[in-house]
Amino acid sequence: MRLLIYSLAILGITAMTSVTPPAAAQQSYSGGLVVADHPVAAQAGLEVLEQGGNAVDAAVATSFCLSVVRPYSCGIGGGGFMIVNLPAHNGAPKVTTALNYRETAPRSVQPDHFEKLGDSLASRFTGHAVAIPGTVAGLLSVLDQFGSLDRAAVLAPAIRAAEQGFAADAHYVETAHELVEWLEESPGRTTTHPFLWKRMLREGRVTEGDTIKLPEQARALRLIAEQGADAFYKGEIADAIIKTVQEYGGVMTPADLTSYKPSQVKPLRGDFRGLTILTMPPPSSGGIAILQMAGLLERVEQRENTTLGKLRHNSGKYVHLVAEAMKHAFADRAEWLGDAAFVSVPVDHLLSDAYLDSLAKTISLDQTKPPEAYGTSLAAVDDSGTSHFCVVDQWGGAVSCTETINLEFGSRLAVEEFGFFLNNEMDDFTTISGVANAFGLKQSDLNLPAPGKRPLSSMTPILAINDAGEAQLLVGASGGPRIITSTFQTLLNAIVFKMNAQDAVAAPRFHHQWRPNVLSLEEQWAPGDGQGIASLEDMRAFMEGISEWDALHRTLESAGHKTGPIKLVGAVQFARKQADGWTGAADPRKGGAAAGR
Ligand code: DON
Repeated sequence: MRLLIYSLAILGITAMTSVTPPAAAQQSYSGGLVVADHPVAAQAGLEVLEQGGNAVDAAVATSFCLSVVRPYSCGIGGGGFMIVNLPAHNGAPKVTTALNYRETAPRSVQPDHFEKLGDSLASRFTGHAVAIPGTVAGLLSVLDQFGSLDRAAVLAPAIRAAEQGFAADAHYVETAHELVEWLEESPGRTTTHPFLWKRMLREGRVTEGDTIKLPEQARALRLIAEQGADAFYKGEIADAIIKTVQEYGGVMTPADLTSYKPSQVKPLRGDFRGLTILTMPPPSSGGIAILQMAGLLERVEQRENTTLGKLRHNSGKYVHLVAEAMKHAFADRAEWLGDAAFVSVPVDHLLSDAYLDSLAKTISLDQTKPPEAYGTSLAAVDDSGTSHFCVVDQWGGAVSCTETINLEFGSRLAVEEFGFFLNNEMDDFTTISGVANAFGLKQSDLNLPAPGKRPLSSMTPILAINDAGEAQLLVGASGGPRIITSTFQTLLNAIVFKMNAQDAVAAPRFHHQWRPNVLSLEEQWAPGDGQGIASLEDMRAFMEGISEWDALHRTLESAGHKTGPIKLVGAVQFARKQADGWTGAADPRKGGAAAGR
């Protein structure tokens, strides 16, 4: 048996083990649901729903709590995008809006800022990496306008989690190990990053189940509860932020903080198989990309007089076709997108019928276009930064929200007095013309920094509504550019392949971002080693897996794709309305939870 498995492995033929759990009956909730990438944060949102709060109250509670329990993913040192859809309720009118609380470049940062510094890495782990945080202003602005509870009520669960502590889970420990490697890479880093090293990583000894307390962040959250956004953008917290940024070489000033404003915009809209998708316009790139990919695949279906659902899920032909749509969307991302408040972004053209028709014509069912040699290589960045969550209340109000501090622990610079980490969102700009960012994304000069400008983002919160304007489906992810491809595949899984929430989120995924010209397949998709085969049936499934994996590779290679393994393609949170209520699933890749009533 072992010999057979080894021989097959040597031949490069290996078995496909699906991570998709068996289709289980999914719990559904009619009184409200929160899906977040940490169970304590999902519970925080649920607690607020139980107090009679609406989806916005619960979203704000969930987000502040994520700031504590996923300190490496998002938080008050970062920013985000939020889509809100609330029915008319208690005399308040119907609300459909998008909130942009993405971080902005400091006022003194000109397009040649990083070029002048002569260091393309300054945008990652120095004071220059830090953009003006937007989370506190964004959350409190949405709470003021559309919430029904006061600041103290929505901040209470986060303050409690920060004071009493939370247990480090598997994802925390895995992220911590990566950070220990980074700190040990260069002598002195453990000394220059004491909060990260001592408090978050326990000098390299943090293990699952350890209680992590953040009393300093509890104090910041208390000040925010008492005084509102001014507590963060002026006064003690602001002073501590500026001191930290400047100590590490950055140029942010107190005036940068006081001038920060979130912006409220109309969501970008598009059709997706009977639903209307509401998503984020630029500086998000993901909204446009998802609508382009959906439009392209629909056109190919029409041309071929077939439907995508007739292809076997994750078969070679399916993966090829979706990857072709991904390549078009990412090519346009690289060329055309930036902050529309500063540069002209041809959104209408990119989503127009004529343009999508012309692109769809170039998609062949069995051949990819010749690889273009363009030297960027996909950086090995994991999915620890960023967090997506979904909230639905008992009235059908819904919030789909993605937030980030960019890379894991952001700039890795802690505002020690207040126990939180500052983002490194400046790395999402085109820092130096033609140079790729941490995600291997080359972007155009439209995305060069400028005072007050927001960097292009892949964050893609999606909220789909029916013709009556009622929320039907919420989805989004973390994972840099893989946010876009993982969110899109989850939509296809749920809508085209009719998978339940759990399966739609857990199924193995792939990623193509046009450049580098590599089609990445999740490692978990690939072969088991045959261990644990206990019956003839197991053996049969194992052999079938081998031939499926082999067929997938043969199809993709004959279509001209270069494939490669990737650890993860995003971490997705998803919620969907069904006849008897809402079901939801948090990605097993990150260990979150759905909590409902
Ligand atoms: O806004 C963006 O596109 C990035 N800052 C997101 C970073 C992210 O998802 C980190 N996870 N790997």
